[in-house]
Amino acid sequence: MTLRAAVIGTGRIGSLHAAIYARDPRTDLVGVVDADVDRAQQVASEMGTVAFDSTEELLERSAPDVVSVAVPEGVRLEPAVLAARAGCHLLLEKPIAPTLARTDELIAGLDPAPGVVMVNFILRSDPRFLSVRDAVHRGRLGTVRTVSAHRRGTAAGAQALGEWTNLLISTAIHDVDAMSWVVGSPIRRVYAEAVAGASAQWGHEDAVLATFQFANGAIGSLDTSWVLPTGVPAPLDAGFRIVGTGGSAAVEGANQGLSYVGKAGLELPDLMHWPTGRDGVGGDLRASVSHFLDCVHTGCTPVMTLADARQTERVVHAIRESIAREEPVVLD
Ligand SMILES: NC(=O)c1ccc[n+]([C@@H]2O[C@H](COP(=O)([O-])OP(=O)(O)OC[C@H]3O[C@@H](n4cnc5c(N)ncnc54)[C@H](O)[C@@H]3O)[C@@H](O)[C@H]2O)c1
Repeated sequence: MTLRAAVIGTGRIGSLHAAIYARDPRTDLVGVVDADVDRAQQVASEMGTVAFDSTEELLERSAPDVVSVAVPEGVRLEPAVLAARAGCHLLLEKPIAPTLARTDELIAGLDPAPGVVMVNFILRSDPRFLSVRDAVHRGRLGTVRTVSAHRRGTAAGAQALGEWTNLLISTAIHDVDAMSWVVGSPIRRVYAEAVAGASAQWGHEDAVLATFQFANGAIGSLDTSWVLPTGVPAPLDAGFRIVGTGGSAAVEGANQGLSYVGKAGLELPDLMHWPTGRDGVGGDLRASVSHFLDCVHTGCTPVMTLADARQTERVVHAIRESIAREEPVVLD
């Protein structure tokens, strides 16, 4: 059965969701909507679909089976609840919401869920992280003792996103989630230090170092920032390493085996997250959307549920609590 797909919010990531649904043989892209009507019209004409003026109109007139909610997290609740009430399966962009109270409000608003609800943490569909998780779970690395992640972006992150989101909830959240998911144990204690620079005007951090203790006794660290000058060869210096009594594994994120040298200097393009090529949008994002569609077809539980996503958000808020209180925070 072909699923009728729609996208609410056709910005940077929502337009990629739309492009994936438009090409996937399992879906028909039946409509899009965006608060910026011109933006929605542009994406609709590129994808050969219809732009609607409101979420209500989209749901009523295009009658989608599956909906991606790719608006900023501050306004995710209302369209998510409307789409759930219309009986749609939901792919929610991460994070669920900017605060835990709003997250709980959204989760309550989706209860009982009409179908599959997945939160789009794309590292859970990244072949490198899937491989390392599998190695840990098969015991190949022995008993895990330490895990570390870094994700050092440029100051462009704060410039582009600082007004409506922040480093921790938008970016570091991916690594917080990946660490716990790969280790296979929840984080039980957090201690963090932060520096605020350009993001201080919005009350947020530009650099955070955090340490973690996992329930199974392993320990971890995260080094995350929006500090580097724009124009560095790789827009994101990301990496991940896990060490156990049987060996270690590493994910090298900044260089994925392709480089260009020219007038602009050295460039290391991203080939993992959402590269666009012969078959349209690929990478982790396509794998994640595809997994969501598989779950809709088969009824399987998605790799990232609302409960998992809430747990990850709880850790991110504990990092913030630790920074504010200048002491470790123990999670219940
Ligand atoms: N999973 C990932 O790897 C990933 C990557 C990028 C962004 N995201 C998440 O996706 C969300 C959107 O990020 P983005 O970078 O695409 O932002 P963006 O600003 O590029 O796009 C957001 C779009 O939503 C529209 N919008 C705002 N309020 C709306 C409303 N009430 N109804 C309809 N449309 C509305 C805006 O006009 C804009 O076009 C964020 O929560 C972000 O954290 C996730």
